Amino acid sequence: MDSVDIGRATEQAPECPNGFHPLDWDEVHDPFPKLAELRAQCPVSTVRRDPIPPMKLFTKFADISQIYRDWESFGNMGIIVNPVEHAGMAAEQRAIISTDPPRHGAMRRFALQALSPAQIDAHMDGIAAYAQAETAKLPMGEDVEMMDAWAGPIPSVATARALGLPDADALSFRRWVRMGIEANARRMSPSSTEFRWADGADAYGAGMFPESADFVGKWVRARRAAGNPQTGDVLSKMLDYVDEESGISFTDQEVVDQLVTIIAAGNDTTGGLIGNFLYRLATTPGLFDMLKQDRSKLIIAIEESLRLDPPQMMFPRLCLKDANVGGVNVKAGEVIIMSMASGNRDEEFYGPDSDQFRLDRKYPNPRHLSMGRGIHTCIGAYLARKVAKVAIDALLERFSGVRLADGYSYEKVLFHHFRAPETLRIVLEA
Ligand code: HEM
Repeated sequence: MDSVDIGRATEQAPECPNGFHPLDWDEVHDPFPKLAELRAQCPVSTVRRDPIPPMKLFTKFADISQIYRDWESFGNMGIIVNPVEHAGMAAEQRAIISTDPPRHGAMRRFALQALSPAQIDAHMDGIAAYAQAETAKLPMGEDVEMMDAWAGPIPSVATARALGLPDADALSFRRWVRMGIEANARRMSPSSTEFRWADGADAYGAGMFPESADFVGKWVRARRAAGNPQTGDVLSKMLDYVDEESGISFTDQEVVDQLVTIIAAGNDTTGGLIGNFLYRLATTPGLFDMLKQDRSKLIIAIEESLRLDPPQMMFPRLCLKDANVGGVNVKAGEVIIMSMASGNRDEEFYGPDSDQFRLDRKYPNPRHLSMGRGIHTCIGAYLARKVAKVAIDALLERFSGVRLADGYSYEKVLFHHFRAPETLRIVLEA
């Protein structure tokens, strides 16, 4: 696309009737009531909040699925970034999550091999043992901040092991990812006095997570300097990778961007899932006992948690060519937002009790939109679900109940993309 006219976004979609804005941190702590109103009254609307250019917000499961699948009309941006800069970036400058075919296909084929179920399964006994050891350290009957003590470190170590890095490095990952998210969250809400439209390089790769990029950059340079010995880990394979289908191999900057994306995507998302699930356990009467007695229900309980509290609440797309979604025309150059937080509660798919946590729910296929759909579907979904399961299993095994600590109330992390507790103070019962 040569030029991008951001101002076109108002065509044929009514102004958002309840003033909701998917980037505004004043709104996104509890977005669900307003999103339910929009699904009922105005499923596609134009959202506006100075100084952000207008965007179209899609709230229905079917419309979001269509956008996810139609990669030819809707290009990926990663997070919300300045579309003019994004469109001007060369494919080699983008991370997997913010690029389109054909380069995206080569990255994805590599990543799907590197994080395949067989590769992950080879690490799972060790990750389960780590989760059990971390759970065994938790004190009983005391007020514990579980995001730092437990829900955060377990996925960090799992991601590091999947990449072939030592546990000691993993414990820095979560801190670096939190730093990147906080720095962006502070300036990316229209309510912020520091608002700055993120530039193309911020789209989930090295630009957004500079500390991780510095770490991975040193790792890449050291391997290159040593002639890339074939150690069998993800990095050694990636540096020498030539995609059979396209002949594409990766620049060192792309390798850094990809690994930084995996580190970022593997940390706060899975930590968010585990934290959100733990909050449900502590606030849903009878749930802990039911799952402790029948562990076979844990898999479906994790899906309900992912559906109701998607760790990634929304993703943007840049419209590359004119399209029609849900009866609304979308023009090339428009930025659109897919609200998975809304689509996952669509009454048309889940029935009138769509906002209830139920283990006997009849699901559509796929069960929810939280792991994406189409060509950008999460490549870490298998790892995330496995890690959440072994962590929660260990907790159910060791304790007899959980409750919120006195005075605690759920506060979401500031970044509009994410739904995860900023902190989670819990008392674990013997
Ligand atoms: C509960 C945990 C997770 C959630 C909710 C989640 C969610 C998502 C979603 C919604 C997408 C699609 C984004 C889009 O279409 O624009 C995605 C893509 C991706 N995820 Fe995850 N993710 C999780 C865990 C992980 C883990 C553990 C890893 C790696 C270790 C990972 C790596 C990636 C990567 C590399 C992509 C980009 C794929 C592509 O563009 O082809 N994710 N994730």
